[in-house]
Amino acid sequence: MTDFRKSVVYQIYPKSFRDSDGDGLGDLRGIIEKLDYIRELGVDYIWMTPFFVSPQKDNGYDVEDYYRIDPRYGTMEDFEELSREAGKRGIRLMLDMVFNHTSDRNQWFRKALEGDEKYKQFYIFRKGKAPGVPPTNWQSKFGGSAWEYVEKFDEYYLHLFDVSQPDLNWENPRVRQEIQKVVKFWMGKGVKGFRFDVINLISKSAYEDDDQGDGRRFYTDGPKIHQYLEELNAATFGTDAEIVTVGEMSSTSLENCYQYANEEGTELSMVFSFHHLKVDFMGNEKWVLVPYDFRKLKDIMFQWQTSMAEHHAWNAVFWCNHDQPRVVTRFGDEKRYWKESAKMLGTVIHCLRGTPYIYQGEELGMTNVDFRDISQFRDVESLNYYQILQDKGLTPEQAFQIIRVHSRDNGRTPMQWNDRWEAGFTDGTPWIGVNENYRYINAETEQRDENSVFFHYKKLVELRKKYDVIAYGDVQPVAKEHPQVFAYRRTWKGEELLVVNNFYGKDVVWESGLDLDGYECILENYSGCRREGGVFTLRPYESAVLYKKA
Ligand code: GLC
Repeated sequence: MTDFRKSVVYQIYPKSFRDSDGDGLGDLRGIIEKLDYIRELGVDYIWMTPFFVSPQKDNGYDVEDYYRIDPRYGTMEDFEELSREAGKRGIRLMLDMVFNHTSDRNQWFRKALEGDEKYKQFYIFRKGKAPGVPPTNWQSKFGGSAWEYVEKFDEYYLHLFDVSQPDLNWENPRVRQEIQKVVKFWMGKGVKGFRFDVINLISKSAYEDDDQGDGRRFYTDGPKIHQYLEELNAATFGTDAEIVTVGEMSSTSLENCYQYANEEGTELSMVFSFHHLKVDFMGNEKWVLVPYDFRKLKDIMFQWQTSMAEHHAWNAVFWCNHDQPRVVTRFGDEKRYWKESAKMLGTVIHCLRGTPYIYQGEELGMTNVDFRDISQFRDVESLNYYQILQDKGLTPEQAFQIIRVHSRDNGRTPMQWNDRWEAGFTDGTPWIGVNENYRYINAETEQRDENSVFFHYKKLVELRKKYDVIAYGDVQPVAKEHPQVFAYRRTWKGEELLVVNNFYGKDVVWESGLDLDGYECILENYSGCRREGGVFTLRPYESAVLYKKA
């Protein structure tokens, strides 16, 4: 059995990973082609974002049919082959299950719209407060009201995301049974991992106006969420101890996460939380331009690390995914210290307590894309907000600058395989533009260079397997107040690890006050970590992992 604490997960966004048939969209056979590459990295799981039949309004997070594979991605035979071939390489598949909502093209919703009462009960329909006024003032996470009017019924349906993504009604036991059936179907295909999309939004408390915000307090970590997760666990994946699960927890709280991901628990193996990635927002407002707050970043990460450990709960640790801009652009320096900062950021995450996730291309140090025109963007959220920002009075240029920085498309440009046609992603025309820096940031170049970001990530994966202190150790923040250094210690049965990172492009002399006798350096991004008498002299974005066995 794979121990998820010793494991590393590699996330694939199939649409942008590798296109095997030249239609410009990545596909399952493309993933099969690249399995040896993934094996070289040493990871244990591949999480694939949804490839089920979908109109692709939200790139597959709008599921039309949970049981079939979208022909654009391939066939069930391709999936089975992928599963077998991955298995031969010791890699398991983790599927992405979207159960807070479906697509409006899902047959359940179509029947609901036809007026079939049984299926209307699968969704959340409500009367407006007055003619033309939605039931509540809740805002969709992709902009605008969270309610859409259906004239035929003179009612609105709830969609916390796009209007094409109606929310499911989990209060209805039939919905919960259908969902169990879906999970069991994929378990029957041998799937050993599941990621549950925005799963902490499924239990709504009351449909009331939110005078303090956008409505999230009425559905985030709602009253029956733990009950629903326990039920799903008991009826499906909980029957197979080999299955690993991760819940995507939107705007969640620590207290809820202790329970979602308790080591003794009956809900999930681990959780994604996002507070540490809101440090370049203003409160919850993402569509603004503000520098990121390093102290806040550190405080939040340490708080989650230590509190989850105290409560015996397990984190997924990560910087990147398909919803986030690229971390080296965000918290590193992609121009002057591209390689150093990409490696440093990888080290910070991979030596923490929790299961690390690598998002495709992160292991190459892929950066944000430099799109010049709004027509190059594809993401529904970005395009909605481009309009909303202008409606609020910003000029098109101001709105564009904000989209450039925060757009999810930064993480969705094609994987950079080599320096040839369209970065080796496709023989055709890619669905979204390739980042121009593929000429020097690409897998082929980096696999030939032992000094590359790729090799650094490969070593990080190896370290977790080799040193129990990384997988199991306690975690203690060091230099908590330091304005430039991100450092922590891990301890486990006589093993000690000290991870020291300079988060800035300036040298820093840091008097750690630590006795470094007996420590050896097991990973660094410069050569020769300077640490005389406990005083570190760190170069720009320098990072070092020191280890000692009693
Ligand atoms: C999650 C997904 C994101 C999607 C949203 C709605 O946050 O990661 O890509 O748009 O849920 O399903």
